[in-house]
Amino acid sequence: MTPLPELEYYQDRINQFLKDKISAIAPNDKKLLDAMHYGLLLGGKRMRPYLVYTTGTTLDVSLDDLDGIAGALECIHAYSLIHDDLPAMDDDDLRRGQPTCHKAFDEATAILAGDALQTLAFDILVNHPFSERTKPAQLQLIQQLVSASGYQGMCGGQALDLSATDQSISLTELEHLHQLKTGALLKASVIMPALIAPNITLEHKKYLATFAECVGLAYQVQDDIIDITSSQEELGKPAGSDLAANKSTYPSLLGLDGAQAKAQDLLQQALQALDALPYNMQNLKAFAHFIVSRTH
Ligand code: IPE
Ligand code: IPE
Ligand code: MG
Ligand code: MG
Ligand code: MG
Repeated sequence: MTPLPELEYYQDRINQFLKDKISAIAPNDKKLLDAMHYGLLLGGKRMRPYLVYTTGTTLDVSLDDLDGIAGALECIHAYSLIHDDLPAMDDDDLRRGQPTCHKAFDEATAILAGDALQTLAFDILVNHPFSERTKPAQLQLIQQLVSASGYQGMCGGQALDLSATDQSISLTELEHLHQLKTGALLKASVIMPALIAPNITLEHKKYLATFAECVGLAYQVQDDIIDITSSQEELGKPAGSDLAANKSTYPSLLGLDGAQAKAQDLLQQALQALDALPYNMQNLKAFAHFIVSRTH
């Protein structure tokens, strides 16, 4: 698999940041706080924070400002996974090599842990000690997170995913579903740091958005591929889950070869968008390669 430059450093950085956030919460119900800690801190590749830090540092944004964006996005992601695994949704028992949150605790606690992690995301964005230069853009950052995670983004995509289960849908519909349920948060991981970058032009933001749309979609295409090609041990979550649940996926519509060709096509489009930018894009290029070569 393509290695990602500085991955470990950014993973450690976001893990410490999130740990501090959870530790700073004044406890009331201990079980709920334990479940939030479990869903947020037990594993995870931290790809959205990686994208935030990599995009941001390329564009000359400070790491301290990026912490707030990366932390908020990872809280939304963690909540989305806890709810995605619930019996009413994908009904999965394993996540990141551990029992899913509702298995380790109970369903009601898992629902509430997801809810509380969602609000923690906005708590972070609202209260982060952003630099004076970034503060005027704070409301815009919140707006971006709202649209990436709500009805116009992840939640809307999850609903389309559920309604496409046991149904045959068109490729256009599948692409739209993927763009929302997974693409939106990944796109926000590029757009939010770009929003606070000094001296960035509108044109450059557009190229970054194209890059982010391509890798965001490719992320879910590859997730659907590895659901078939990787083992449970490798994935840390059940393999063959999509097939068993009769989900609409790229491999189910195009076959495995067709899905792999789609991922490669998206990779090329992502690289092309980066080539149009005057920054050092090596790390974002490595990210695009990593996404379509990952096996877990
Ligand atoms: C899995 O996300 C669900 C999707 C949105 C495809 P990740 O593959 O980023 O999961 P973790 O956070 O590394 O466990
Ligand atoms: C999940 O997609 C996307 C979100 C959680 C928003 P999947 O259902 O394919 O994710 P996994 O395979 O369970 O991680
Ligand atoms: Mg799902
Ligand atoms: Mg799932
Ligand atoms: Mg999946």
